[in-house]
Amino acid sequence: MKIRNKISIVCLLIISCFGCTSYEQPNNELTVSEMLKASSSQYLFMKDKLEQGRFPKTYNKFMDKLQTSPSDWWCSGFYPGTLFYLYEETENQELFDEGLHMLTLLEKEQYNIETHDIGFMMYCSYGNANRISPNPKYDTILVNSAKSLITRFNPNVGCIKSHNRGDNDFVVIVDNMMNLELLFWATEFTKDSIYYNIAVSHANTTMKNHFRADNSLYHGINYNAETGKVNYYIGGQGFSEESAWSRGQAWGLYGYTMMYRFTKDRKYLDQAIKIAEFQLNHPNMPEDLIPYWDYNAPDIPNALRDASTGAINCSGLLELSQYTQGEQSRKYFESAEKMLLTLSSSQYTAPANTNGGFILKHSVGNIPAMTEIDVPLTYADYYYVEALKRYKEIKTR
Ligand code: GLY
Repeated sequence: MKIRNKISIVCLLIISCFGCTSYEQPNNELTVSEMLKASSSQYLFMKDKLEQGRFPKTYNKFMDKLQTSPSDWWCSGFYPGTLFYLYEETENQELFDEGLHMLTLLEKEQYNIETHDIGFMMYCSYGNANRISPNPKYDTILVNSAKSLITRFNPNVGCIKSHNRGDNDFVVIVDNMMNLELLFWATEFTKDSIYYNIAVSHANTTMKNHFRADNSLYHGINYNAETGKVNYYIGGQGFSEESAWSRGQAWGLYGYTMMYRFTKDRKYLDQAIKIAEFQLNHPNMPEDLIPYWDYNAPDIPNALRDASTGAINCSGLLELSQYTQGEQSRKYFESAEKMLLTLSSSQYTAPANTNGGFILKHSVGNIPAMTEIDVPLTYADYYYVEALKRYKEIKTR
């Protein structure tokens, strides 16, 4: 078979997200390009359903209704970011125009100092727009966004604050690693090392305190804002303080791989490898490589899967496979390929014009808070499309 730009999407034996076992026969062969084309159609379908001035959040299948958010929700950058990725692949102008329209709604968030998620919000959106179609206005917005993000840095702790709590609480969650990409861009653009240094300090402090002996990650830490000492660990979106919340592991894997991309410091690569090994060798990692929502969920094998973790891991591993060699590189690439196959099967990919226009089904937002359970999510789609693009790029090199 001609390898160029091609992957057989074969339906695998899949364990149902609903906890019971269902089997699907191999029944289709699709290319990455076809998956990207189908994803583009889905996003145009979503665009037509989307209420003016709002951002997609998830979809309520019982009411056949998109759930939406204003621009200050942490996920507001993923929809425009996915539109830009899909435009790059299909050159469908409608996708690009919708992405540009969403940017106008996001613009004011450049001054938002109330959230650490401004990296996700602005870099996934404006960052991609600027890469595809460079514009001095986007540069200014991204620099302002980076300035807003570093207002949350505390040198006593060595980290950017994630959540706003009481004066003596300084909460940092592992997800925050993902916001550092914006800071590296800002130093590259402005030549001011302040952004780079804060990103490095945050990553080093997280490396020191967030990891357990088995290389799994705590979701959150409450630090003493004056001394920088760890007050206590936070279970956050995971099953418990001592459990390994799956998406947290994925943010760490992706985040430390990205740290290596910008710094070429071997210790970050080693950390990313440790997280990859923790997950890939975990006895509770399912055969199809789409994790349960927590590696220590008490009801495994009946626990829900989280497609968003699968997509983030997949994209992160594809990058990691490019920084490693030989057998190790092959293992990461092939694991990512398997994740892509699973996500692209009918078990996870929604049929056309269903699922509110979201590409993937079966993600888990926050079980402890009882929100977004077994639903489509914008970040699952964003990292899935990114993974398809990365896969295609590696294969065509
Ligand atoms: N807190 C961001 C997430 O759900 O991954």
